[in-house]
Amino acid sequence: MLSANLTQLLNQQIGLELYSVNLYRQMAAWCDHEALVGCAAFLEAHAEEENGHYARIFRYVRETGAKAVIPALPAPPTQWQDVAAVFAATLEHEQTITRSINAIVKAAYAENDFATVGFLQWFTNEQHEEEHLFRTVLDKARIIGTEGKSLYWLDKEIGKLAKGAAAN
Ligand SMILES: [Fe+2]
Ligand SMILES: [Fe+2]
Repeated sequence: MLSANLTQLLNQQIGLELYSVNLYRQMAAWCDHEALVGCAAFLEAHAEEENGHYARIFRYVRETGAKAVIPALPAPPTQWQDVAAVFAATLEHEQTITRSINAIVKAAYAENDFATVGFLQWFTNEQHEEEHLFRTVLDKARIIGTEGKSLYWLDKEIGKLAKGAAAN
């Protein structure tokens, strides 16, 4: 059984993962609007991954006998200055998620809830991978550039990162 504190923290994380789904999907819509189809495919695929994260935590809370709750979500931004700003925002967002996961791991340790510590191990590994992925995307933007024809090639490169999407 989850403590009230861990239930609240995990439900809060459910909200953060759902917000991530909406944020990345909204970013995909912005990219589509800017004719950046590769970036849009990448972000759409990533929104799907976040949906998997949400479902994973939701299921875990239910399995413990605690009540999983879907919280009200703030609307994501709809406008970014350019594609570099989009990807700077993704890395920043993932860093926020990492801090949040770490705080829950810490709370689970403090309560000797080792099942929850074990459950969250997957998320700590995932956050390491996600921060690496978005850092790689930002590096590509810096090296290839985001002006004129560079933007075309950057979009193609990022499209290649979209899992399961025929973006190139
Ligand atoms: Fe996530
Ligand atoms: Fe993520």
